[in-house]
Order: sequence, then structure tokens, then C-alpha cells
Amino acid sequence: MQGPFGGGLSSVKLTSTVSNMGGLGGYGAYTMSPDDIYEVDKQIKAVTDKPYNINLWVSDTDAPGGAITDTQYEQAKQLFQPYFEEAGIPLPEKPAPFKSRFENQLQVIMDIRPKVFSFMFGTLPQDVMEQLGKHGIRTVGAATTLDEAIALEASGVDIIIASGFEAGGHRPSFLAPAEQSTIGTFVLLQLIKDKVKIPVIAAGGIATGRGIAGALTLGADAVQIGTAFLATDESGALPTHRQMLFSDAARYTSLTRAFSGRLGRGITSRIAMDLSGKEKSFLPFPLQTTFLSPLRKAALEQQKWDMVLFWGGQVAPILKHNKAAKLMESLIKETTQIMNP
Ligand SMILES: Cc1cc2nc3c(=O)[nH]c(=O)nc-3n(C[C@H](O)[C@H](O)[C@H](O)COP(=O)(O)O)c2cc1C
Repeated sequence: MQGPFGGGLSSVKLTSTVSNMGGLGGYGAYTMSPDDIYEVDKQIKAVTDKPYNINLWVSDTDAPGGAITDTQYEQAKQLFQPYFEEAGIPLPEKPAPFKSRFENQLQVIMDIRPKVFSFMFGTLPQDVMEQLGKHGIRTVGAATTLDEAIALEASGVDIIIASGFEAGGHRPSFLAPAEQSTIGTFVLLQLIKDKVKIPVIAAGGIATGRGIAGALTLGADAVQIGTAFLATDESGALPTHRQMLFSDAARYTSLTRAFSGRLGRGITSRIAMDLSGKEKSFLPFPLQTTFLSPLRKAALEQQKWDMVLFWGGQVAPILKHNKAAKLMESLIKETTQIMNP
């Protein structure tokens, strides 16, 4: 599986390239409006007749009622003021309340019926799972702990992603706090395989045929690869982001809540380091992203890379391919050579 990327980093070209070559392409749609998801789905269907996966976040805000208090806003302003000053831009207005999009997005999934629907940040209620099943949609839920995998299996998902903490992007934890759910892919995979009967997909730190073969040897039924596909020209990542993934900077990644309010892994930035331990003054997801979006824009324009979070996983320094088709070819060839010598 090609890992779906939320927040505008997926592309029709990447999803279809992977699906057309025998993988399962994925498209991350959690920030999109229903109309935009219908449109993207049409575009994918126009370029592949193979199965693909659409991904959503079942929980898309941590702010009660989607809003923050004036005190929260003042605290965040105080903490981030020096960075806005450094970029020479004013502090933003208090972010408007966020209205969850998930219910409406889920309706689109029922309508467009992708072969596979993967989701993160929780489980879905029984009636929704039954409806998805009746529509012939395979469901895939993400776990960062054994407890989450057991909860997902009990909820009726078809497949579980074992998401190790090496992975790029947000940590999809939903039972314990993400900081307490930092298990490596290969341990998590084995724990889940030992206790759960449904298929398990290993995700996090896999970028080569050797990595795939290692995961399969440990019992994985498939793998999901994110960072290696994010770094290809076909992804929706900015050229600078893709260059960063191939640069020495990618040797250092860290988990931080500083940029979105939820814990995620990206190339280590100065802001993430400076503000470690100050999480209480960050805004809840996704209002922290809204609050920081002018700073991100200004930092990108001014090439202040250490103030930008470039998402990526720990495996980035061994990446070799910047074309999705070449990456797929190499993954298939190397895995086959190792597994069927
Ligand atoms: C930039 C970025 C965005 C991501 N967005 C999502 C998402 O919206 N939904 C999801 O299920 N997984 C998301 N992921 C996780 C990937 O689908 C995949 O599980 C992960 O990247 C695998 O680990 P790796 O990066 O070490 O290959 C994202 C990963 C990255 C790097």
C-alpha cells in the first residue's frame, strides 16, 4: 500500500501510478470538502481501473466544540510571537471555530464506494461498519498499540495497520496519548499478529524490498509505505519538501505537536526543538495549524527552512528514487528476489 497523505500531499498521479503497477494507491482526503472528494475520485477513476484506497480521519478536532478560549489564544500568541516577529509578519487573529467535516466526508465514501477505505484516529460505530460492508468497501483502521488493534478488530474492521513510531506524519493514537504509544513497527507488528486474527499491514520505516521482506518475514500480510512515496515527483509535496527528504537534514526527525496540535513526525525544526515541553500553550488540533499557517507561508517564502515542518519518517536517509514508477519497480524486484530466491 502507498500511504495516503492528508493535507494536500496526495495526488491522483501518485495514487494511480501505484495502483496501475499492482500496489494499492492511496489518497488522503481528511482536509477536503465533499465536493472536492467527489472530483478527485472521478479523476482517479479516469486514470485507473484498479482498486485504490481513500483515507479519512474519524476524529478531526481536539477542541471542545471546535473552539478555543481567549486565554488559550493569548498563551499561543505569547509563545509564538518571536517567530512571527522574526518572519516580519503580524500575529494572526483568533482562529474561527472548526466544524468537523467527517460526517459529510463519510457520506461521500458511501457514495463513491472505493474498494478500500482506510481511516485513522479511532474506530467507527457498528452501524457505519455494517453500511460500509454492505457497500462492498473493505475497511482498514490504524493502530499504534496492541490495545488499539484489539479495539479495531472488535469494531469489525477488515484489516489493521500497525503504525510504528518511525513513520512520517501524524501518530494515529486514539486510546492512550500518542506520547505513550511510541512502539516501533517491528515490535508492534509482532504483538498484534500474536493476538489478532485479521490481516495486519506493517507501516513505518519501510522503504525498500529488504524492509518489505523483513516485515513479511515477521508475519505482516502487507506493508504500507509513506515517506518513500512522499519523496517522489508525483506526490503533492512542494519541491523544497522533496529536496529536504533527500538532504542531510532528513537524518534528524522528531515527533512534535508544535505545528498542528497533534503529535507527528517530520524533519527536526528549530521551532519543534525550542518549544519542546511547552505543549500546554499550543492550540488544540487543527486550530494550531490554522494559527501557524501565515508563519508557514512566510517562512517558505523567506526560505527559513528551520521554521517549517517538513513531514517525513526516520527512514528518509536511505531513499533513492524520485519517480514513483521506479520506486515501485525496485520494491517489487527486490522483495521478489529476497522472498523467492
Ligand atoms: C506527510 C504524511 C502525511 C500522512 N497523512 C496520513 C493521513 O492523512 N492518513 C493516514 O492514514 N496516514 C497518513 N500518513 C501515514 C502514511 O500513510 C504511512 O502509514 C506512513 O507514512 C508509513 O511510514 P513511513 O513514512 O516510515 O513509510 C501520512 C504520512 C506522511 C509522511
